[in-house]
Parts: sequence; structure tokens; C-alpha cells
Amino acid sequence: MAALFDHPAYYDLLLRTASGEECQFLKGCFERYAGRPVRRVFEPACGSGRLLIRLGLSGFEVSGFDLNRHAVQYCNARLTRYGLPPSAVVRDIEDFRLSRRADAAFNLISSFQYLPTERSALRHLQSMVASLARGGLYIIGLQLLPLRGRRIALEKWAGRRGPLSVTARIWTKRIERRSRRELCGLSVNVVTPRRRLTITEDMILRTYTAHQMRRLLRKVSQFEVAATYDFRYDLAHPASIDARTQDAVYVLRRR
Ligand SMILES: C[S@@+](CC[C@H](N)C(=O)[O-])C[C@H]1O[C@@H](n2cnc3c(N)ncnc32)[C@H](O)[C@@H]1O
Repeated sequence: MAALFDHPAYYDLLLRTASGEECQFLKGCFERYAGRPVRRVFEPACGSGRLLIRLGLSGFEVSGFDLNRHAVQYCNARLTRYGLPPSAVVRDIEDFRLSRRADAAFNLISSFQYLPTERSALRHLQSMVASLARGGLYIIGLQLLPLRGRRIALEKWAGRRGPLSVTARIWTKRIERRSRRELCGLSVNVVTPRRRLTITEDMILRTYTAHQMRRLLRKVSQFEVAATYDFRYDLAHPASIDARTQDAVYVLRRR
């Protein structure tokens, strides 16, 4: 498991700018695509809870699972600080049932690709079906492997709060097409007036072409694809997904 996730405060800062846009997008999807009013939302692989906390402060009842106990502790401490229930739990997202079904769920920035096999991805989707009310949404954002056109293989993130600055690079080291594994390098630099920290690590993500993702989703007939988008998260502009697509967001609706 990547060590950046052991430092949820730095992770949060890297994604702070994106979080507001993503949250607006999620709320827009709830209104536009859900077949029911959305009150209760769930995030599998919630990490630091950067999105759960914003949604909680907007009035949604939020909860999340993550395998990383540092991230879960940080998430719960922040929820508590804002007067919200500490509803993040250390738990694997592969196979589970929520005791109370959610109206919507989301899993952005490729967390879905941490599920290492087709079987685990399928079990996760089936768990989501069982954990969502009818008409509820599951919004998944991931990086597809484009078969045509240019593929972006390096991403840079940066965040600053007062004297604390965090920068990160994540890049593709190798793609193993047969085993559908992408080996990514991650390098993070943290600078404060008194400290410098560098985190370097490798992560393995499961790869999906547009076709492989379509085939996987077809196996879970309880979900229909209500809409697709890209990482611009522009609600007014759905984006079709084809063999050139890299950034993909699927808005799935529970039948
Ligand atoms: C890229 S972070 C995304 C966090 C959060 N969804 C967000 O948007 O900021 C990926 C998270 O997935 C979690 N994770 C990976 N595999 C998991 C699994 N099988 N079960 C639960 N959490 C998992 C990691 O611990 C990490 O916090």
C-alpha cells in the first residue's frame, strides 16, 4: 500500500483544489441522475475523507471504508471536529454489505483500480449493488488505457498551506498488458520551515481499456450506465467513452 496514504494531511493538501470541483460534480449527479432523493452517501476507499467531509458539511449523511488506518483515523478526527459522526471504518472494499443502504456512492481518482483482479472488481461491484437502494448511484472515476491517440503518463500535483508545501509526481513505469498491471512511480516532496520529507514508492493498478470496462459492467446487470464524463467534471458536458479515452467517469444507476 502506498505510503502517501499514511500521510493523509499531505494527500489532502495535494488534492484540495480538485476537491471542491469534484464535490460540486457529485452533488450535480445526485440531482440529475439518481432515481431517488439522495441523503445517505458512501465512499468505498474514502482515504482522508476529503470529499466525505465536504458532503457531510453540505448536509448529507456520510460514511466510508478504507484499508488504511491512518487515513481512517484522520478522516474520523476531521468529521468529529466539524461536528459530524466519525463514520469511516477500516475495511476492505472488495466484499461487504452496508447495514443501511446508501442513496449514492462514489469512488474517484482511480481507487477502483486498486482492486487487483477481475474477480475482486466484480465482487466489489456486487457489494455496491447490495449496498445501494434502487435508483441509487455509484459514480466511478478511473484512468482507462487508451488504445488509440496519446496517453498521458505523468501527472503532477501541488498544494500549499502557509509555509507547508507539498508537490507530487506520479508516472507510469511499466504496463504489463497480459496481466493488466500498471506499475506507477510516486514521488512526493514535503517542505516546511523545519522539515523536508521525500516519499518515493511504487503502486500497482489494474488496467482497463474502455472495452474491458464495458465488459465488466455488463456482468453486473443491476447497474445501468446513466451517463459518462471525463475528469473536467463538467456536468453540462457528458463525454462519450471510446478507445481513445483515458480519463473516464461512469455514473452507474442501480436498477
Ligand atoms: C487514491 S486514494 C483515494 C482516496 C479517496 N477516494 C479520494 O478520492 O481522495 C486510494 C485509497 O484506496 C484505499 N484502498 C486501496 N485498496 C483498498 C481496499 N481493497 N479496500 C479499502 N481501501 C482501499 C487506499 O488505502 C487509499 O486510501
